[in-house]
Amino acid sequence: MALKSINPTTTESWKKLQSHFETIKAKHLKDLFDANPDRVKDLTVKWEDFYVDFSKNRITDETLALLIELANEVDLKDAISKYFNGDIINATEGRAVLHTALRAPETAKVLVNGDNVIPEVFEVKAKIKKFTEDVVSGEHKGYTGKAITDIVNIGIGGSDLGPAMVVDSLQYYKNHLNTHFVSNVDGDHYNEIIRSLNPETTLFVIVSKTFTTQETLSNANSIRAWFLELLPQEAVSKHFVAVSTNIDSVKAFGIDEENIFPMKDWVGGRFSLWSAVGLSISLAVGYNNFESLLHGAHKMDEHFKHSDFKENIPVISALLTVWYNNFFNVESEAVIPYTQYLSQFATYLQQGIMESNGKYVDRSGKVTGYQTGTVIWGEPGTNSQHAFFQLIHQGTKLIPADFIGFVESLHGNKDHHNKLMSNYFAQTEALMNGKTEAEVLSELENQPISEEESKLLPFKIFQGNKPTTSVLIERLSPESLGKLIAMYEHKIFVQGIVWNIYSYDQFGVELGKQLAKTILKELNSETNTTLHDASTEHLIAHFKEKQ
Ligand code: F6P
Repeated sequence: MALKSINPTTTESWKKLQSHFETIKAKHLKDLFDANPDRVKDLTVKWEDFYVDFSKNRITDETLALLIELANEVDLKDAISKYFNGDIINATEGRAVLHTALRAPETAKVLVNGDNVIPEVFEVKAKIKKFTEDVVSGEHKGYTGKAITDIVNIGIGGSDLGPAMVVDSLQYYKNHLNTHFVSNVDGDHYNEIIRSLNPETTLFVIVSKTFTTQETLSNANSIRAWFLELLPQEAVSKHFVAVSTNIDSVKAFGIDEENIFPMKDWVGGRFSLWSAVGLSISLAVGYNNFESLLHGAHKMDEHFKHSDFKENIPVISALLTVWYNNFFNVESEAVIPYTQYLSQFATYLQQGIMESNGKYVDRSGKVTGYQTGTVIWGEPGTNSQHAFFQLIHQGTKLIPADFIGFVESLHGNKDHHNKLMSNYFAQTEALMNGKTEAEVLSELENQPISEEESKLLPFKIFQGNKPTTSVLIERLSPESLGKLIAMYEHKIFVQGIVWNIYSYDQFGVELGKQLAKTILKELNSETNTTLHDASTEHLIAHFKEKQ
């Protein structure tokens, strides 16, 4: 069954939120804390190894209740059951959205067009497991009989960002295999990677859901050509495998059937790391760790599916974005992990969040008329504190931020970890409380203050009242990472439901691709055309003249 189409701005709760906003907008977080001694208790969710503190957000119990009323009015419950049941909720592409089935237990039953997809999910998982074990143990040898030492994932977008982020995030758990990622069609990218590689000991994993993506196919073709300069054609089957839904095109590329890891069209590219797209993850950290990642995600699925909305981490988190985006007119949100391991996390989320919810047409095909997807960005703390935090603290823009931290560090250096985490706590405290004029004055030694000091006073005041959510997790592990990623996946889903948009298509990336095809022909020919606007025409002419 299709998702309902309910314009959120026509609901009763939206109207109530609008007038409630008028009473909240000028309130300082410090006053909200003073007004409710139970605020932390009321606005913190403890679940498994997650402690999620929403209390430093510009909400009250009433705001949360109204936001939940909104979720009820747009029938989020009905949407969640359609999402998990395999209904065609990606209506514009006529597909179910079932990345959750990829991490469901073997006993689960998820029907797509009347067929249970779980047995096939487990067949592919068994194939990933066997292949991983063979490569990691050295049983799978290259053409010249040497064990594999390097894995190169060739893919882009969801066929790159998910595996690349997870492999980087879980590097502590990595085995001896070196993992590389080639994504950009920029020839310098693949050349930089292959120049240090020995084809005899390298395995190339071509990942493309459609197997039509220009970047991936160009890289795969160029890398195969390089490979064939050094090894014969028969060597390809030992060194190239592929992950795709498009089996015929993979075979036409020259990859043997047994080297194909299939995926299904009900897995969206940006949600596909749990499928065979995660082959590079499994190879890099071992199959058991890959399985733990899936298990963590499944636990978050269960939490999301069954918890009351007021205790539901992805639901609250999504509703907060709606609150800031549609009532405070906030444009962007930051995600700041306090671990270097998650340095690719925001980049990964950019595709998930912005490709999913960057839509201006609602589920009835009408222009929304209200704001949808936010801009997402971030870098790990403490590095980001020395880069863009000035603007978050004292700039003119309101930027809600998620602070992700861990109780334990992986290498166990407590001295460093406590320094790191003191910053994690201090930043959210500073963002909330700011620094008043009286506080700045009280820190100055000379009283009364000099004229010079008094001139500097306004620059040293921090208004505070900057919202943050603290996600404090016990330890970075495959399982907790699985939970964290799934938390954001469900957040994306909830936002899409509330905004009444289709989160699982991506028509917005097509236009540029189409135009690039025409321009490529021009770049490769002698003649210039004048089919472009004047600016583009002159840019192309200048490029060709200088080339
Ligand atoms: O960026 C557009 C997109 O279609 C993404 O959604 C997808 O993850 C990426 O291209 C790669 O597509 P494919 O896996 O089919 O090569």
